Amino acid sequence: MYGMVNKAVQDLVITNFGDEKWDLIKQKAGVEVDVFLSNESYPDEMTYDLVEAASEVLGVSGREVLHAFGEHWVLQTARQGYGSMLEANGRTLPEFLINLPTFHTRVAMIFPDLKPPRFNCTDIKENSLLLHYHSHRPGLTDFVIGLLQGLGKMFNTSTKIVVAQRKAEGADHDVFAVSWVEGEAG
Ligand code: HEM
Repeated sequence: MYGMVNKAVQDLVITNFGDEKWDLIKQKAGVEVDVFLSNESYPDEMTYDLVEAASEVLGVSGREVLHAFGEHWVLQTARQGYGSMLEANGRTLPEFLINLPTFHTRVAMIFPDLKPPRFNCTDIKENSLLLHYHSHRPGLTDFVIGLLQGLGKMFNTSTKIVVAQRKAEGADHDVFAVSWVEGEAG
């Protein structure tokens, strides 16, 4: 994945736990890169190893690391570096989710070797929808939950996320049942 992903993990850890913990995590993951370059591709394994090492060093589950990372990605990484892209994708949570299918097409203009996830929405109702997530990468269901929680916060919208089906349990792809109450912080 592009270096900006590992950089975001680094930023999340250093902001919340400090430089020493980050050094320990890198050591445990066997990562010898000093500075991640945003526009350079790194093996996916490196990101998975960093998440696993973070879980061990910080004493939290891998799922919790991925939740926190998803929220951080939306509320810090994306907002700080790509705020206008986020704003252009929708003014409310449902609008943003309905426009999500084409979002990474625009991201790919900046990162041409992107291997993006694929999203689409079905069963769109006034306060709920089903979000379908397709990826050739395994194990990122909890990252998506964190991303959705982050988007709920960004839109000041109380959001409930239930995983309706999981690829890890034999389904064709992950499906998230997302429901919301607008105007209520969650
Ligand atoms: C401006 C904001 C965003 C940027 C710049 C961005 C960029 C990226 C980049 C560079 C990757 C790594 C993929 C690769 O290197 O091949 C990635 C992966 C991913 N992105 Fe985004 N992204 C943004 C927002 C979002 C949002 C809002 C969502 C969903 C709610 C999302 C969902 C994902 C997921 C699930 C992955 C993991 C890759 C996979 O499933 O295969 N991203 N994104």
